[in-house]
Amino acid sequence: MSIKDSLNTENIPDHVAIIMDGNGRWAQERGEHRVFGHTSGVESVREALKAATECGVKHLTLYAFSTENWSRPKEEVDALMKLLVETIANEIAELNENNVKFMTIGNIGSMPQSVVDAINNGVESTKNNTGTNLILALNYSARWDISNALKIISDKSANGEIKSEDIDQEYIKQYLSTADFPDPELLIRTSGEMRVSNFLLWEMAYTELLFTEKYWPDFRKEDFFQAVYDYQHRERRFGKVGEQLQSN
Ligand code: IPE
Ligand code: IPE
Ligand code: MG
Repeated sequence: MSIKDSLNTENIPDHVAIIMDGNGRWAQERGEHRVFGHTSGVESVREALKAATECGVKHLTLYAFSTENWSRPKEEVDALMKLLVETIANEIAELNENNVKFMTIGNIGSMPQSVVDAINNGVESTKNNTGTNLILALNYSARWDISNALKIISDKSANGEIKSEDIDQEYIKQYLSTADFPDPELLIRTSGEMRVSNFLLWEMAYTELLFTEKYWPDFRKEDFFQAVYDYQHRERRFGKVGEQLQSN
């Protein structure tokens, strides 16, 4: 039996975000090079996407490369870029078969041209799909995103397009790279690290955080369902007291 059968279908999160961590340690524990962990992690991406689709999660955002990850050894960064280009190209047909729409958040324009081309191709080829939205966070950091939004808003303010008293949370949100997506209800981080590493800081104001010891290459569909199951047994209070929620 799958944990999926125990899920409350009325309470499936609309958006799940994952910090896919632990590839390097997974490989090193097997006496392999860190890059082997990254290539092995691709299967876990497929599993997470299948699980999201099967249980009706509409948005799946995966943290694949942070702004800070550029400071890793050049050899590893190059291998990651190559893996990205190859994986996007290899997966497009299957994404289309499964009606998955591929999107990205992050500073894509500053990535190597081969990556930009692969992304554009993936986005263009899947843009009419209406099933699960697969959102890869690439060259992404939340502070980059928020700073970028502030620059745009500052220009609009200088041009007289917006008055400071009209700048509220909804206004700011529309200039973040996540503008088109709801805030994630659930964030999963693998590998036992309990930190958010500059991911979706604005959007996770009320996100439920779930940490698992498993390294990303070991992550499978059942782990995703288990995370959704755990999420469904949390009480989300949004600043209220428990009794107020029960009366709803
Ligand atoms: C996550 O795994 C993948 C990326 C950050 C690109 P890591 O490469 O961070 O693996 P660990 O955390 O060093 O084990
Ligand atoms: C976060 O993992 C970024 C991605 C998963 C892409 P890191 O491995 O880079 O995070 P830190 O350095 O351990 O905080
Ligand atoms: Mg890591």
